[in-house]
Amino acid sequence: MQWKHDMNQTSQGHPDYNYTVVRQFAIMTVIWGIVGMAVGVLIAAQLIWPALNFDTPWLTYSRLRPLHTNAVIFAFGTSALFATSYYVVQRTCQTRLFSDKLASFTFWGWQAIIVAAAITLPLGISTSKEYAELEWPIKIAIAIVWICYALVFFGTLIKRKVSHIYVANWFFGAFIITVAVLHIVNSMSVPVSMWKSYSIYAGAVDAMVQWWYGHNAVGFLLTAGFLGMMYYFVPKQAGRPVYSYRLSIVHFWALISLYIWAGPHHLHYTALPDWTQSLGMVMSLILFAPSWGGMINGIMTLSGAWHKLRTDPILRFLIVSLSFYGMSTFEGPMMSIKTVNALSHYTDWTVGHVHSGALGWVAMISIGALYHLIPNLFGQARMYSVKLINAHFWLATIGTVLYIVAMWISGVMQGLMWRAVNADGTLTYSFVEALSASYPFYFVRFIGGVFFLGGMLLMAYNVYRTVSAPKGSIAAEPTPQAA
Ligand code: HEM
Ligand code: HEM
Repeated sequence: MQWKHDMNQTSQGHPDYNYTVVRQFAIMTVIWGIVGMAVGVLIAAQLIWPALNFDTPWLTYSRLRPLHTNAVIFAFGTSALFATSYYVVQRTCQTRLFSDKLASFTFWGWQAIIVAAAITLPLGISTSKEYAELEWPIKIAIAIVWICYALVFFGTLIKRKVSHIYVANWFFGAFIITVAVLHIVNSMSVPVSMWKSYSIYAGAVDAMVQWWYGHNAVGFLLTAGFLGMMYYFVPKQAGRPVYSYRLSIVHFWALISLYIWAGPHHLHYTALPDWTQSLGMVMSLILFAPSWGGMINGIMTLSGAWHKLRTDPILRFLIVSLSFYGMSTFEGPMMSIKTVNALSHYTDWTVGHVHSGALGWVAMISIGALYHLIPNLFGQARMYSVKLINAHFWLATIGTVLYIVAMWISGVMQGLMWRAVNADGTLTYSFVEALSASYPFYFVRFIGGVFFLGGMLLMAYNVYRTVSAPKGSIAAEPTPQAA
C-alpha cells in the first residue's frame, strides 16, 4: 500500500502533522466497531434463542453483554475519539503532536487493553460494576495510557502556533480530564488476588460513586468527546463556519457544569438519600437546555447549505446523528423524572434510550467523521464509493429506528404489565407473560442490529478499497466505475 511509503505526507501537504497514529486509530475504529456490534447482534439473538450460548460458559449472555458494552464504548467509540482528537488538535493548533513516541504508546497500550478485556470478560473475570468491569491490573494500565493521552493532547495545545483554542478542543480536553478522574476514583479497590479485587466503597456510597462514574462516562465520553467531533467535522463537511461561536462557549460551560450532578437519576427509589435523587432529577431536567443548544448549533451550521444534504451522504450521517442526539437528550431528562422512571427503569425502554444515543448519535457521528477523515489521511480526494456510503447511511438509519422503536414499545409494555394489578391486589400478569410478550420486539431489534452491522461491513469494504488504492488515484468526482 502506497500510503505506507509516505506516512507523514498528506493530500493537503502538511508534512508536519503526525497522521500515523490517527490512521491507526481510524482503521481500528472500523474493526472494533464490527467486532463490538457483532457481539451486540449475537446477544440480541441469544435473548430470542437462548440455545445460542451453546452451553459454554464463555458464550453466556452474562459474559458477552459486558464484552459488547466494553467493545463498543471503549474499543470502537474511544478509538474514534483518539483518532479525531489527535487529528483535530493538530489541525486547529497548526502543530505536530507533542510527542510521537507517547502517541504511539497510547495506540499500542489501548489496543493491548482491549485485547485484555476481550480475553478476561468471557473468562468471567469481572468487578461486576457496569462499564467498569475490568479487573485491577487492567484498570491500572488504563490509568497509565489515559494520562499519556492527556500529556499528548494538552502538550500539543501548549505548543500551538495559534493563540486561539478552537471549541472542539475544549470539549476533547474536558472529556480527557474528566474520564481520568472518573476512572481513577471509581476504580479504587483492594486486590485480593491477581484477578479479584473489592471496591473500597461500601453499600450506598459504592452505588453513588459507581453511577457518578457511569453517568459521566455517558456525559463526558459518549457526549462531550463526540461534541468535540461535531464541532470540527460538521462545519468542515458543510463548508460553513459553526452557526454560533458564542453559543458553543455557553454550551460548553453549561454542559460540563450540569452533567456531573445528574448521576443519581440511575438510582431512583434506592437506598440513596432522597434529596440526592431529587437533585439528580432536577439537574437532568436542566441538562436538556445545553444539550439542545449544542444540537441546534450543529444543525444550524447547515443554514444556507441545506441542499448539500441531498447529495452528500457524509453530511447526512453527521446531521442525522445530531437529530438522534436531540432525541436521546430529550428522552433522558424525561426518564429522569421519578414518576416516569418508576415505569421505565428495569425495562427495555432504558435499552432503547441507550441505543438511540449509542447507534443514532455516537456511532453515526463517528462514521460520518471517519468518512471525512479516511480519504484525507490516505491521500485520496474522497472515499472509493459514494454509493456505498449512501447504502450504509440507509442501513444505519433504518437499523437504528427498528432497534429503538422496538425497545420503546416493549419497554412501555413491560412496565405496564409489571404494575397491572387485579381488583383483589394480585398481579395481573406473571413475569413470564411479560417476557413472552417481548419476543416479537426482540426479533425486530435483532433485525435492526443486523442492518446496522451490515452497514459497517460495507464501510469496511469501502475503507479497504480507499486505503489500498494508489495514492491520489481516487478523483474528486465519482466516475461511473468507481462509484
Ligand atoms: C440530557 C441528557 C441525558 C439524560 C438526562 C439522560 C438520562 C438517563 C436516564 C434517566 C436513564 C435511566 C436510568 C435508569 O432508569 O436506570 C439513562 C440511562 C442511560 N443513558 Fe441517558 N440520558 C441522557 C443522554 C444520554 C446520551 C446522549 C447517551 C449516549 C449514548 C445516554 C446513554 C445512557 C446509557 C448508556 C444509559 C444506561 C445506563 C445503565 O443502566 O446501564 N444517555 N439516561
Ligand atoms: C449492531 C448494533 C448493536 C446491537 C445489535 C446491540 C445490542 C445490544 C443488546 C442486545 C444489549 C443488551 C440489552 C439488554 O440487556 O436487554 C445491548 C446493551 C448495550 N449496548 Fe448495544 N448494541 C449495538 C450497538 C451498540 C453501540 C454502537 C453502543 C455504544 C456506542 C452500544 C452500547 C450499549 C450499552 C451501553 C448497553 C447497556 C445498556 C444498559 O445497561 O441499559 N451498543 N446492546
